[in-house]
Amino acid sequence: MKKIPYFNYKALFEADKEKFSDIMISVAERGAYIACEELAEFELELAKFSGCKYAVGVADGTAAIIIALKAGGVGAGDEVIVASHTMVATASACAWIGATPILVDCLDDHLMDPKSAKKAITKKTKAIMPTQLNGRVSEMNEIRDLCKENNLLLFEDAAQALGAKYKGQCAGTFGVAGTISFYPAKTLGCFGDGGAVLTNDEEVYRKIKLLRDHGRNEKGEVECWGLNSRLDNIQAAILLHKLKSYPQAIEKRRALAHAYNEQLSMIPELLLPPAPENGDRYDIYQNYEIEAAKRDELKKYLADNGVGTLIQWGGKAVHQWKGLGFNLSLPRTEKLFERCLMLPMNTSLSFEDVQYICEKVREFYN
Ligand SMILES: Cc1ncc(COP(=O)(O)O)c(C=O)c1O
Repeated sequence: MKKIPYFNYKALFEADKEKFSDIMISVAERGAYIACEELAEFELELAKFSGCKYAVGVADGTAAIIIALKAGGVGAGDEVIVASHTMVATASACAWIGATPILVDCLDDHLMDPKSAKKAITKKTKAIMPTQLNGRVSEMNEIRDLCKENNLLLFEDAAQALGAKYKGQCAGTFGVAGTISFYPAKTLGCFGDGGAVLTNDEEVYRKIKLLRDHGRNEKGEVECWGLNSRLDNIQAAILLHKLKSYPQAIEKRRALAHAYNEQLSMIPELLLPPAPENGDRYDIYQNYEIEAAKRDELKKYLADNGVGTLIQWGGKAVHQWKGLGFNLSLPRTEKLFERCLMLPMNTSLSFEDVQYICEKVREFYN
């Protein structure tokens, strides 16, 4: 029996052990821990990669959302429309700046439903922030139009979608600002926490830089209340190196997704993610999330056969966590959480692994 973990954290370091060791030693020997040259270089390269003007490294993907919203002018009393099928961080970031997250439903592609977002607009709505989930970009034409028609700001939680595209444009670059997470299991992961904000707006960029460093400008003068939310230089140095081979990492994920789709498409009990070749979208497959009949039995069958799987977000959408006090029904999202399951998807996975997993899935349904 094969043993295929859902995610192999140790393999992240093993993949390029000597180079990573050299990078960390070099940073430590120079004492170059905070806001040094690797951070500045990484920010330039990240902006170039995403096709936007500015990228700012911050402490993590959650802080990135808080800072982006605040820099973009969202604050106390505002409502921000987000999908309930997201990590709780998307909504909690709104709450942390005194805004109210308004949760809406998703579509069959598991991303924000623009019609559900439209229905949620009120006089207090200030912004819409779709989550570009699982490495896929939402229906941005419709969401952008909705923002324009209603004079709303557009933000993107692109924590899971660095390099994913919609009509050739990268996730995180459609609105006022977009946010990225470099959590280790992300498509571009560092060895701890890390995040970034992307923007094309010079004034927003300036505010983001102030907010991530105690409100201080380049001269060290305090201009506003801020946070300590800088991306550590050691993480920036690792990310700068990993970014060089990131396009190949994306291609491997896309090839793995293609293999899954080919080998699972004949099973009527499954709803698969869109295939890599799908019109306007270029997906990077942060996750390979299926919907499955008898999901819990399938999960157990795969575990008994050595395959690790995951039900995202602890098995609940944001509005389903009682402690958060929401009282609403989002039928498509709720149905999704009865059926969703993530199969292994990462660059340490082999095509033989995918073949084995698919064999076991087919065996289960037969
Ligand atoms: C969609 C989404 N938003 C926000 C975050 C928060 O990022 P971080 O863990 O870096 O704070 C994550 C990370 O898991 C995420 O997947």
